[in-house]
Amino acid sequence: MTEHRDQQLRQLICLLKDGDFHSGQKLADELSVSRAYIWKLMQQLEALGLEFESVTRKGYRLLKPLELLEEENLQLAMASNGMPDWECNVLLLTDSTNEQLKGSRFCHKKILAAEHQSAGRGRRGRQWVSPLASNLYWSVGWQTQMPVQQLGGLSLVVGLAIIKALGGLGIQGVQLKWPNDIRYQGKKLGGILIELSGDVAGALQVVIGVGLNMQMGSTVAQSIDQEWMNLNELAPDVSRQQVLAKTIVELNQALELFEQKGFAAFQESWQEVDECFGQKVSILQQHQELKGIGAGVDATGALLLQTGQGMVPIYAGEVSLRFRA
Ligand code: BTN
Repeated sequence: MTEHRDQQLRQLICLLKDGDFHSGQKLADELSVSRAYIWKLMQQLEALGLEFESVTRKGYRLLKPLELLEEENLQLAMASNGMPDWECNVLLLTDSTNEQLKGSRFCHKKILAAEHQSAGRGRRGRQWVSPLASNLYWSVGWQTQMPVQQLGGLSLVVGLAIIKALGGLGIQGVQLKWPNDIRYQGKKLGGILIELSGDVAGALQVVIGVGLNMQMGSTVAQSIDQEWMNLNELAPDVSRQQVLAKTIVELNQALELFEQKGFAAFQESWQEVDECFGQKVSILQQHQELKGIGAGVDATGALLLQTGQGMVPIYAGEVSLRFRA
């Protein structure tokens, strides 16, 4: 997609965002293009996951009004919350915000958010469904001198920062499923994907990616193979912008504390939101299944599993955790 086309799509979304009908001719005049071209752009928006209707003599109407994320406003929120050295960019379209922050494009304390991801990815090679302007998809670059062995608790720390931000917006009852799922009453609201690169002996470059379902339509979500829900079901008036701004601020504080004190400083808070505690769970790791009861986490963030053979620590990585009956 060219930058010019990107710009045209953004312009079109801004005209349509109120959810009212807009005639094809008026839209064409605003963008200085033909009506046929507007139709083409609308097809592209639909392919990107935006749901709309088109009615003869009335024009086009988005099924849900929407607001795009505002980069400047996020930048201001960071500056006024003791984060003047942080940077924030919002893209309309990208492949994956994690991918965009990796390698030579890595930047410490940079937030990259996108309105759509064509190749959003989840843990264990899964696809992360990322329809346009419906949810939050963002990543942050974070460079640290912490030894890699201490980073096992990082996804838990990020999850706790998100829960704190949601609490600050009046959203209660959200839990964390070790090591990276954000859930409400057993339904997935979002997830965290952490990717590391760099010199294991020196500074590590960490890309922390967060996806949070906010107001996703059910049609685009058909390929999701687990129970999920939107945050707006819990808080219809809370905007994506508010959630992102608040989370970034909480995350900055959490990362500072994590660097100073390690996961031990978060162990207690984890207990309050631990969905696995006292539950029968199964850990799948390299085709092996380990059954037990969730017994919290240790001071490094490893899951403690009470098994027939005693307490076993489980380290995050390529493991999968399921609840059992
Ligand atoms: C999971 O639960 O499997 C983790 C999902 C992480 C998704 C986010 S969306 C922003 C960032 N970019 C990606 O490609 N993935 C993460």
